[in-house]
Amino acid sequence: MVLLLLILLFGFASTLEIQKVVIVVISQDNKYNLGLAQNLTREIFAESEKLYGTRPIVHVSSTDFPSKADWTYLPLFSDLVNSHEDNASWVFFMQDYTAVRLAKLLEIFEKYDHQKEVWFGHALFDQTPTVIHHFAFHENPTIFKYPNVASGFAISFPLLKRLSYKWEEFHKTQTSNFHIDSGHELALFVWKDANGPVLEHEPALCSTFEEPERCGSHPSQFHNCDNLVPRNSIYFAVKTCSKFHKDRVPIVKKTWGGHVTTIKYFSDAEDKSIPTVNLGIPNTEHGHCAKTLAIIKYIASEIKSSSYIKWIVIADDDTILGVTNLQRLLSCYDHGDAICLGERYGFELNGPRGYNYITGGAGMVFSRPLLAKIAESCVCPSLTTPDDMYLGICVAKLGLEVTHAPGFHQARPVDYSPEYLKSHEAVSFHKHYMVDPVDIYKQWFETEDTLANRTKQLRVEL
Ligand SMILES: *[C@@H]1O[C@H](CO)[C@@H](O)[C@H](O)[C@H]1NC(C)=O
Ligand SMILES: *[C@@H]1O[C@H](CO)[C@@H](O)[C@H](O)[C@H]1NC(C)=O
Ligand SMILES: *[C@@H]1O[C@H](CO)[C@@H](O)[C@H](O)[C@H]1NC(C)=O
Repeated sequence: MVLLLLILLFGFASTLEIQKVVIVVISQDNKYNLGLAQNLTREIFAESEKLYGTRPIVHVSSTDFPSKADWTYLPLFSDLVNSHEDNASWVFFMQDYTAVRLAKLLEIFEKYDHQKEVWFGHALFDQTPTVIHHFAFHENPTIFKYPNVASGFAISFPLLKRLSYKWEEFHKTQTSNFHIDSGHELALFVWKDANGPVLEHEPALCSTFEEPERCGSHPSQFHNCDNLVPRNSIYFAVKTCSKFHKDRVPIVKKTWGGHVTTIKYFSDAEDKSIPTVNLGIPNTEHGHCAKTLAIIKYIASEIKSSSYIKWIVIADDDTILGVTNLQRLLSCYDHGDAICLGERYGFELNGPRGYNYITGGAGMVFSRPLLAKIAESCVCPSLTTPDDMYLGICVAKLGLEVTHAPGFHQARPVDYSPEYLKSHEAVSFHKHYMVDPVDIYKQWFETEDTLANRTKQLRVEL
């Protein structure tokens, strides 16, 4: 009886208050993403005031902790510990496209002990070793769990504090290398560098937008911001070389290339059957900086006389694009701004010379003003410098940031966890290796592209 009373009392006393949760929205410094983050913050405040008469603390990463590395979590931890350690129990990290249901979320928090070192999220694991995770755990990739960042994940303050300390130590002695999947990299750090706890899988932090009733959080479904950006306002440049004229180029033509109005194939050799544009730059096995910059200059000068081109996409000949999904996404960005959009990777972000860049294979999208700036001011250090990395450096030198959109994929669908792929609308995949690219196109993009193609498009002559 006494025990029961104690349990009841304890249970009552341990009820988590919303003020004990610090929410961090990972966002980006552009009109659309900031708008998403501000709307989300407003919605959280409104729901919290309605339910509890008070608000949680909400930080927006790009406003409160602006840095090139803000999307990699660890660099934010010491600020969070310093400002909230005395008052808060949990930090909940989410994306600007994650939706939360606060009452449900608080129930979930109560299942875990915030006085212990603990973290929970929607756990993902790789089914096969994957290039995006540097083939980690290649003997048995399924043993390693990492959070789906689109679902949000929570870290208790005791764990946050130790991770922050471990990160400061790491930071003093080592420079990070590539940053690709921030959730996976954080989980590796927790496990390897901090000897911390395994991520607890919390199924009520959901991965899809289909079952929100039982979910404390879930990725929200993408909505266009406006009408689709017209197809004839997008210029597609495909980088190819003579080696691939016969196998890769026909696949582009048979799939997404058949649904666009302006497409040019840039190669090291002339081929009238495609036809290609030969810019006279020899093909290199790696790098392509000179070639890509020559393409950018060619297009910048070519479109001077065509005011309807607003966006330029540079893709590889083994990039698989969803044209309609791209049109939908671009409707959210202002083509008058200097924008470079795609899948963001980072390099040496904790070092003095670190930078973010848009990885080339997933397709790099430039707004017209930014393309013009790059054409004017970027000069390749060498023929074979990696083009995408160099463009990232150049964009940073212009005082701008690249914009990440989760729908772009530098690898094949099999390289990602299926649950992760359900969390956002795909715009691209990359590489034909051991997969059928036509099947991938059919499965992910064809329906949308064909439907949208019924609307008559103006053929554009440059
Ligand atoms: C934010 O909310 C306003 C008002 O509801 C809406 O007009 C706007 O489109 C939203 N912004 C974004 C990026 O969703
Ligand atoms: C903790 O909360 C109290 C009351 O809400 C506030 O006055 C104080 O500034 C907070 N301390 C920190 C370190 O945030
Ligand atoms: C899409 O529309 C373009 C332009 O009207 C046309 O050339 C092309 O054949 C169409 N593709 C398909 C698959 O319907």
